Amino acid sequence: MSVITHIEDLRVLAQKRVPRMFYDYVDSGSWTEGTYRANAADFDRIKLRQRVAVNIEHRSTRTTMVGIDVAMPVAIAPTGMTGMQRADGEILAAKAAEKFGIPFTLPTMSICSIEDIAAATSRPFWFQLYVMRDRDFMARLIDRAKAARCSALVLTLDLQIIGQRHKDLRNGLSVPPKLSLRNLADMARKPRWCLGMLGTKRRNFGNVFGHVKGIETMRSLAEWTNKQFDPRLSWADIEWIRKRWGGKLILKGIQDAEDAQLAVASGADALIVSNHGGRQLDGAPSSIAALPAIAEAVGRKIEVHMDGGIRSGQDVLKARALGAKGVYIGRSMLYGLGAMGEAGVTRALQIIHRELDLTMAFCGHTDVEKIDAGVVRV
Ligand SMILES: Cc1cc2nc3c(=O)[nH]c(=O)nc-3n(C[C@H](O)[C@H](O)[C@H](O)COP(=O)(O)O)c2cc1C
Repeated sequence: MSVITHIEDLRVLAQKRVPRMFYDYVDSGSWTEGTYRANAADFDRIKLRQRVAVNIEHRSTRTTMVGIDVAMPVAIAPTGMTGMQRADGEILAAKAAEKFGIPFTLPTMSICSIEDIAAATSRPFWFQLYVMRDRDFMARLIDRAKAARCSALVLTLDLQIIGQRHKDLRNGLSVPPKLSLRNLADMARKPRWCLGMLGTKRRNFGNVFGHVKGIETMRSLAEWTNKQFDPRLSWADIEWIRKRWGGKLILKGIQDAEDAQLAVASGADALIVSNHGGRQLDGAPSSIAALPAIAEAVGRKIEVHMDGGIRSGQDVLKARALGAKGVYIGRSMLYGLGAMGEAGVTRALQIIHRELDLTMAFCGHTDVEKIDAGVVRV
């Protein structure tokens, strides 16, 4: 295996090791994928200011996100079906995040359950919630996250309907995978993945299976899930969730300054500027392009976080400079996981951390807390 030096190396390796149906599920956006591409491309357009002859010997990337200490201003984004990239994927990623000292966010639509992650880790993780029609089920999910001592709830607001991803339709994406001839032939070329899947019992949606009455088969689970995302979601639901949860609340999927103001009014602790990794509204601006106006609209009232297109420590620095207190990584983590399991997620975090540390130093800074718009050339 060649030496892994940046996130792109992990992506290439993941593409070789993960069955096509699940690799494509990660490496894709909705419709033309224009917003998906813009998320990363717009970072490249931002240039940094080099400074020299500044003492940069002692440096720190430590900071906080919603008051929680983090080794760098990066958290793991919630990504559905992570346990299909690699057996027990959420457990592996959560362990890597815990050892690194950054938050891991478990999604509602994970393969490993809330209880699985709680049993495998010793520091509190974060839980991502979708607003579902079955409010009793949602209430139970919130209670389970509380019982597992999750330290923040990430409420996703931008997936009440689903943006079409051509590749997923073509591949017939499903959990567990459809065993068509084409899929079987592809899996046969990925023996490491197959062995892992044979060795685990976690192969369906762990937070749902066994927790909803009448769902005993994969088919009934799929039918139930498809009907659950509630298109009637409103700010009143968010108020209900905030009260029921009672802890740190982060609203995910904000793209617009007006919605950001409503997020402030809702009493949330933070918002995430996000377009769901370019998987929902194709034609929306990249997250990094949307960030400055939202950061300005919100001021210091609540924390502003962002995600979308972070593939390097340079990207983390640019997001900090343009107003994000912290960022989340989706695909950078998933590529590491698909490539090398827990070691791959750790490698992804090490790469991003080292790039952040050195880039900060090139810009004449020693403390990530003090990064401001001055590091960016305008
Ligand atoms: C494969 C995949 C699955 C995702 N599933 C979820 C999910 O279940 N819940 C959610 O809030 N966001 C989900 N997202 C969006 C991520 O949380 C995040 O917004 C996005 O990945 C950030 O962009 P990046 O992948 O370029 O870092 C998913 C993203 C990907 C790539």
